[in-house]
Amino acid sequence: MRAYYLGNNDSEGAGIDGETLVAEGILHWHLPVDEAAYTAPLNEIRKARGYVEMDQIHLDPATPNLGALCDKFYAEHHHTDEEIRFVIAGSGIFDLRDEDDAWMRVHLGPGDMIIVPADKHHRFTLDDARTITCKRLFQDTNGWEAILR
Ligand code: LAC
Ligand code: NI
Repeated sequence: MRAYYLGNNDSEGAGIDGETLVAEGILHWHLPVDEAAYTAPLNEIRKARGYVEMDQIHLDPATPNLGALCDKFYAEHHHTDEEIRFVIAGSGIFDLRDEDDAWMRVHLGPGDMIIVPADKHHRFTLDDARTITCKRLFQDTNGWEAILR
């Protein structure tokens, strides 16, 4: 995981450390990418936080409507529940608003897990590799919708 403030034209600004992310409410972990190794720590987190539901999604250039999907994810929004992602393979980018409304960019790779807190404005996009496989965890799949800013 690598995080930094977004400058003009999406340029890379000052780096952001893990503690700053946590202070912004953004919890994160780095887990093993091997299923036999990540299952136990993942289950600990699921139990501690009540993530009873889990599924897996995959996006790559062969995904139908990838462009439209990415446009949808890149529109700034929030949810009334947490958004939890654990990257198994590939990579992706979350931009999250800090408390002063500045964009923080978090680039996730294999093994990275992140919690976007409830009500935190964010958006998501793929990077140039345009491929990600990740697990989505939920406390409750009902009522989990994107609210556009
Ligand atoms: C979502 C992510 C992409 O809401 O933010 O699905
Ligand atoms: Ni979202």
